[in-house]
Amino acid sequence: MNQETKTRSTFSGKVGFVLAAAGSAVGLGNIWRFPYLAAKYGGGIFLFVYIILAVTFGFVLMITEIAIGRKTGLSAIEAYGAINKKFKFLGVLTSLVPIIILPYYSVIGGWVMKYLAVYIAGQGNEAAGAKFFGNFISEPIEPVLWFLFFIGLTAIIVLFGVQKGVEKASRILMPVLVVLSVAVAIYSVTLPGAMEGVKYYLLPDFSKFSINTVLGAMGQLFYSLSLAMGIMITYGSYMKRDVDLVQSARQIDIFDTGIAFIAGLMIIPAVFAFTGEAPKKAGPGLMFQALPQVFANMGFGTVAGILFFLLVLFAALTSSISLMETVVSIFQDKLGWERRGTCLVVLLGAIAIGIPSSLGFGPWSMVQIIGMDILDFFDFISNSVLMPIVALLTCICIGHVVGPKFVEDEISLSGKFREKKMYNATIRWIAPVCIVAILISSVMSALGIITI
Ligand code: PHE
Repeated sequence: MNQETKTRSTFSGKVGFVLAAAGSAVGLGNIWRFPYLAAKYGGGIFLFVYIILAVTFGFVLMITEIAIGRKTGLSAIEAYGAINKKFKFLGVLTSLVPIIILPYYSVIGGWVMKYLAVYIAGQGNEAAGAKFFGNFISEPIEPVLWFLFFIGLTAIIVLFGVQKGVEKASRILMPVLVVLSVAVAIYSVTLPGAMEGVKYYLLPDFSKFSINTVLGAMGQLFYSLSLAMGIMITYGSYMKRDVDLVQSARQIDIFDTGIAFIAGLMIIPAVFAFTGEAPKKAGPGLMFQALPQVFANMGFGTVAGILFFLLVLFAALTSSISLMETVVSIFQDKLGWERRGTCLVVLLGAIAIGIPSSLGFGPWSMVQIIGMDILDFFDFISNSVLMPIVALLTCICIGHVVGPKFVEDEISLSGKFREKKMYNATIRWIAPVCIVAILISSVMSALGIITI
């Protein structure tokens, strides 16, 4: 195993690590995906389950991945094999996840660009129309073009290695996004009729609890924190030994969950205010339908819309860059390709997978895979199938094969590990047992053996 990390470039210090990891974590997952899942799975109960998972499971998996990276000094595809030969396949499995996510993530990124353009053109009021979103995504050409813009921009940034510039910009823009989101959330919750929505979002209704709530929340947790796909391992490999790992992980966890929480407050109460009820069929369009209505009602709606979609675009770009960078380095490390060519291959591959995801809402909407649109299917396979399996195998690898001491020792290097007992119990027993139970029941329900 490569214990030497000196030759690897490192983040300048704690702030550098936390900011870079937060840049990857905070993205469309928080602002676009979290609110629609919360609405879909019954509001408060989803939020409740999500927060419990974030402080236990999310935290444990986050410190595990960062520690694996820092200890081995390797990225995911090599790191698991370096820890234990039998787990070499886990590196490959983990690497599949960002490969699946990058294309469809960029389709949504394209939608964000389109909305930004609409607001810049001063057509925000049209975007608030009931049919606007549906009409847009079912077009054959336009959403594909926006997808190509978004992924092209990501590729250019990765190709020219100017991530640093984007990261610097997002360091300033991220706090602005937080402030703007809080302002919009305050506006939303004070709309007439919004209070019902606030209650729906904040008060857990335990009668709506089901295994699917937990599976949905768990997939979202991994997605939002960029876990179970090797990204935090790679970031950990750049982290210095004297940076407090536990504290950094906690900060990222809190920041990421906080932004998701505020995004829910922006969107869900607004839906109640405008429709008088809970979102009936909450899906990927929720943010794009609800927010334009909010902006259309505000005094400075156009300015707010431009600013909001611009900031979301930045958040999405820092995430898509980290996704593409990860995919590129997987191919480089594994196949020894040079960087430019690899970027191009990754770009073309992502385009080939992304176009069907986009068309799945329009001309190809008759293509349904196990009852889902193409984009939803990719989302499901990565978040609800592969990531739980990767997380489970990571728990088994560290908890039972290598031993939790591997991670505990690494963490103790940079400070006292107070949560050691909780860590040990979670990684060995609580997390794996829960994941297995969830996976089994969701497969059984998918096969119609049980109804949950
Ligand atoms: N965590 C990012 C988000 O919430 C998405 C992402 C997933 C980014 C995987 C990088 C890798 O939007």
